[in-house]
Amino acid sequence: MASAKICCIGAGYVGGPTCSVIAKMCPHVTVTIVDINDKRIAAWNSDELPIYEPQLDDIVKSQRGKNLFFSTDIDKEINDADFIFISVNTPTKTYGVGKGMAADLKYVEACARRIAAVAKSDKIVIEKSTVPVKAAASIQRILSSNMNLDINFQVLSNPEFLAEGTAIQDLIHPDRVLIGGEDSEAGRAAIQKLVDVYANWVPREKIITMNTWSSELSKLAANAFLAQRISSINAMSAVCEATGADVNEVARAIGMDSRIGDKFLKASVGFGGSCFQKDVLNLVYLCECLNLPKVAQYWQQVIEINNYQRKRFASGIIGCLFNTVAGKRITIFGFAFKKDTGDTRESSSIYVAKYLLDEGAKLSICDPKVSRRQIVSDLSHPTIASEETVAELVTTETDPYKACKESHAIAVCTEWDAFKTLDYKRIFDCMLKPAFIFDGRGILDHAELTSIGFQVEAIGKTVSQGTVFTHNNGNNILSPTSRVLP
Ligand code: UDX
Ligand code: UDX
Repeated sequence: MASAKICCIGAGYVGGPTCSVIAKMCPHVTVTIVDINDKRIAAWNSDELPIYEPQLDDIVKSQRGKNLFFSTDIDKEINDADFIFISVNTPTKTYGVGKGMAADLKYVEACARRIAAVAKSDKIVIEKSTVPVKAAASIQRILSSNMNLDINFQVLSNPEFLAEGTAIQDLIHPDRVLIGGEDSEAGRAAIQKLVDVYANWVPREKIITMNTWSSELSKLAANAFLAQRISSINAMSAVCEATGADVNEVARAIGMDSRIGDKFLKASVGFGGSCFQKDVLNLVYLCECLNLPKVAQYWQQVIEINNYQRKRFASGIIGCLFNTVAGKRITIFGFAFKKDTGDTRESSSIYVAKYLLDEGAKLSICDPKVSRRQIVSDLSHPTIASEETVAELVTTETDPYKACKESHAIAVCTEWDAFKTLDYKRIFDCMLKPAFIFDGRGILDHAELTSIGFQVEAIGKTVSQGTVFTHNNGNNILSPTSRVLP
């Protein structure tokens, strides 16, 4: 392993942290992360990394220039490498067959074609990106088109399970590392070589190997199960609001059953992030293609409940504000899809903002890590709001106190710790009355807020008026189409 070289194609949220940790844990391995985006690579080589992830800065700064490099010279790094990780994005298709559901593999295919075109020696090519089942077979076929018949390409599946915000800890202490490969002598040898890399820091019993298809499907299954848990507790939150039960108490009660477990039971304004929706839709599409319509419908419901949760939250806000928010200032606390990340992909805040903008609300958006540029760009998407609407109705504020000045309501959409410790008396004093707080994350002290004078409404719980999110059922807001989100 002394001279092993890794090239990672795709310097994004997955490729960057994953390969930085490999460099940290394997000082004898040289890791180079390449990307077609030269600005991104320049940022990785600067003091201001292109993504925010706790502990990432320290790792990059300690390894960069030693055994960790960032480059745009993709062909050279492909050629030099023993292992090539493909970590490019695999978004939901926005065109053609499978539009709105299937994963778009054009970037993965482009990587495979590049490798086939330039490789001059044996390579182990590793799917890090989440791909549909059997993608490895397609990659293998493209690689086989390399004119040099003496080169041996082995394709492995090694899906990533890191969650943003805890990526570094997830990578250093993974629950498991999954490696799938071909059941042949060359396949087993390639699997073993990758096992040896991870075994530098991951206990052997946590490195599991299997056939490629099981590995590819396991990644989709893991994300589908996690997303399903959130939709299950969110579905339960609606029942709680309608009955006077408290979803946090229900989550605690069921979570103590060791068969259920207590993680991923936090009711919310809906899950976001680049993976859950994309991967569940990908699974639904796979089931449809396999002529398993009942199974497809089952998983589709996970997405339906997520859309429903976002809509009924926004709808509850409108209902409470006397059925009109036109011209009213509403403060959105949090724009990232979860705390401790600056990532906004598929964030529920975008959809809540959309529904409120559709009703003419003025939004004051405050997030500790998301830039104004990002917020404006997300909201100005053709499926969300026009540029004119955003220019007219959206302001952004880094100071939460200024963000709340003369607002009618605060909607908590991201569970940033910073929102828990604000001086809410000071905030109350500068808001219009009655002052509302809608806690879409269940993070605030509702009793204290009520005693200050706020009207408090929380997902899955009756605080001030009760059933506000449920009695509208989201019906006073136009539904997005059943599959493709607005
Ligand atoms: C990853 C996975 O790859 C995806 O399959 C998973 O489901 C979510 O996480 P992520 O790292 O979040 O994607 O994507 P992103 O941050 O967009 O990074 C991808 C990078 O690949 C970008 O920097 C892009 O410039 C680069 N890229 C894309 C290439 O270098 N070459 C290409 O051909 C395409
Ligand atoms: C997820 C998976 O956890 C990870 O294993 C996979 O590799 C990529 O997708 P990520 O999207 O980064 O990771 O974040 P995650 O922590 O899973 O949260 C996803 C969304 O679910 C967030 O919007 C989060 O706020 C929400 N969530 C999570 C809830 O609403 N309730 C919960 O109990 C947990």
